[in-house]
Amino acid sequence: MISTYLNHLKITQPLWIILLSSLGFLFISKKSILFIKWIFNTFSRKPKDLKSYGSWALVTGSTDGIGKAFAFKLAEMGLNLVLVSRNKAKLEQVSTEILVKCPKIEIRLFELDFSGDVVSGVQRMKEEIKGLEIGVLINNVGVTYPGAMYFHEVDEKIWMNLVRVNVEGTSYVTKAVLNGMVQRKKGAIVNIGSGASIVVPSHPLYAIYAATKAYVDQLSRSLYVEYKGSGIDVQCQVPLYVCTKMASKVAFVEKDKSSVFIPSAEKYVEAGVRWIGHDEARCTPYWAHSLQWFFASSMLNDALLDAWRLSIGIKRRKQLININIASCNATQTLLYLPSN
Ligand SMILES: NC(=O)c1ccc[n+]([C@@H]2O[C@H](COP(=O)([O-])OP(=O)(O)OC[C@H]3O[C@@H](n4cnc5c(N)ncnc54)[C@H](OP(=O)(O)O)[C@@H]3O)[C@@H](O)[C@H]2O)c1
Repeated sequence: MISTYLNHLKITQPLWIILLSSLGFLFISKKSILFIKWIFNTFSRKPKDLKSYGSWALVTGSTDGIGKAFAFKLAEMGLNLVLVSRNKAKLEQVSTEILVKCPKIEIRLFELDFSGDVVSGVQRMKEEIKGLEIGVLINNVGVTYPGAMYFHEVDEKIWMNLVRVNVEGTSYVTKAVLNGMVQRKKGAIVNIGSGASIVVPSHPLYAIYAATKAYVDQLSRSLYVEYKGSGIDVQCQVPLYVCTKMASKVAFVEKDKSSVFIPSAEKYVEAGVRWIGHDEARCTPYWAHSLQWFFASSMLNDALLDAWRLSIGIKRRKQLININIASCNATQTLLYLPSN
């Protein structure tokens, strides 16, 4: 069919038309192949057997949102869990809930506040997990601003907190489990990035958050290349909005009001586990997030996206200021927020 088409072009058309049509043909073929690949990867590719990496999974930030949903899902898949988070009571609560559903697995809890001394905290964690075959690491813990604000308004405490949790936390926990994975020549590391640093060209009024997530993305993609040959699959998963405590804080998404474009954490994770260990250094597992990314990157130019994000940031900043003014105990939060 292709050769008939080319023969037809040769006889009847000038050279520039032949070249242009061929380029168009190649372009459409490439896009079609990518589209078919996306359909296959998203809806019908089999998930990897995650137990083949080792019998334990470690999940950070596992007491709420996406981390908690990952913990449940991995337990259902038969993995033993190390749950790492800052609140002991919440860790115990999550562990009890999981064991009711999956009584055959083992769970270890580790209390670690990533906004504190990350280095010694992770060192203690490393001692605790010595001897456990950690095959899967979900580097999920992440924090953002209490609300939209210009960079000059961001209190240094907030900024440093973000760097410690999102950047140092992710890096130190990765390093803590990597040695064992290298020795065993197998492992899967998932770092949770964000559309804030990848899908949109800028994320005004959340600049430090977006910058820390750009770090997570580049760290993951470089480690993917470094460790591919050693049997370790590193991946950055890029969610857009997911209906969690964090989204309710930054985007005023009501915690129980998920939708097609803002899935529940469980729905996100249902998609997320299907991508672990497959050959993508960076992915957006949830289908409606991929569509949003596709439309943003192919239909809108950077200037339009920048203007749109800036208007959203300014609107959210105003909403937050109004909420704080209306609240009677506003003083604490207003320390971080200007009044105009
Ligand atoms: N939700 C979204 O729309 C969205 C979009 C893109 C990317 N992400 C990323 O996805 C990841 C999970 O977000 P999420 O929406 O599930 O957040 P979330 O609902 O706020 O849950 C965050 C989890 O991390 C724990 N955590 C927070 N600060 C901690 C600290 N200093 N030390 C130890 N644990 C701490 C929380 O513990 P507590 O239970 O004690 O609070 C909770 O278990 C983050 O990396 C986030 O950047 C989220």
